[in-house]
Amino acid sequence: MRPAQLAQPRVAPSILAADFSQLGAQVRDVLEAGARIIHVDVMDGHFVPPITMGPLAVGALRGLTSEYGALLDVHLMIERPEHQVSEFTRAGADIVTIHAESTPHLDYALAEIRAGGAAAGLAVCPSTPVTVYGEVAAAIDLALCMTVNPGWGGQQFIEASIGKLARLAPLLAEGVALAVDGGIAPGTAERCKAAGAGVFVAGTAVLGTKDPAGSYVALAEAVGDPRR
Ligand code: DX5
Ligand code: ZN
Repeated sequence: MRPAQLAQPRVAPSILAADFSQLGAQVRDVLEAGARIIHVDVMDGHFVPPITMGPLAVGALRGLTSEYGALLDVHLMIERPEHQVSEFTRAGADIVTIHAESTPHLDYALAEIRAGGAAAGLAVCPSTPVTVYGEVAAAIDLALCMTVNPGWGGQQFIEASIGKLARLAPLLAEGVALAVDGGIAPGTAERCKAAGAGVFVAGTAVLGTKDPAGSYVALAEAVGDPRR
């Protein structure tokens, strides 16, 4: 099932850049300002070096996002995600995105996400060819093109991503959302939009600022996010 919120351009604030002592209040601020996708970065210390959060964090935000009709978008940067997908769908993830590089059983893992009632996302690292999307076109609801190397917030946008988006977009089935993640701010977001992107994940540029709601609005206006 493809969530209706994905039919329009959306900024997805990533909580990786939040002040975790104020997490609920900060997420409420951006929801109140109109954000309808909240991005949760899960890292396991293996697929990427850092360890971040797990299903408990997803469950803790579930009530808040539901109140606003917003999606919880869970980006799994973990090895062998097929073993963990159901934990995240049970915790309330609306979208679960897994990495093409993280399992030899991609088609199976994507099917597990849909079986758990969530939309299935497929992410690729900057060095991974876009051709994988052609192989699983019918199994995905969202394509996530990493525009930095996964693992850390605050990195510089990789310029070659613009050409990659243009190669990737035609491989997607109708209605599949194309997301970008990493180094997204108004300038890079506008260029990604011109190359076909419709979901703009942003950590540093939204929850990493002193005014998350105002920063969300500025980015939303740059990409045409309807803010409701
Ligand atoms: C990085 C994560 C991103 C991260 C982006 O591996 O997937 O979602 O929060 O952070 P910024 O927007 O700071 O590049
Ligand atoms: Zn992410």
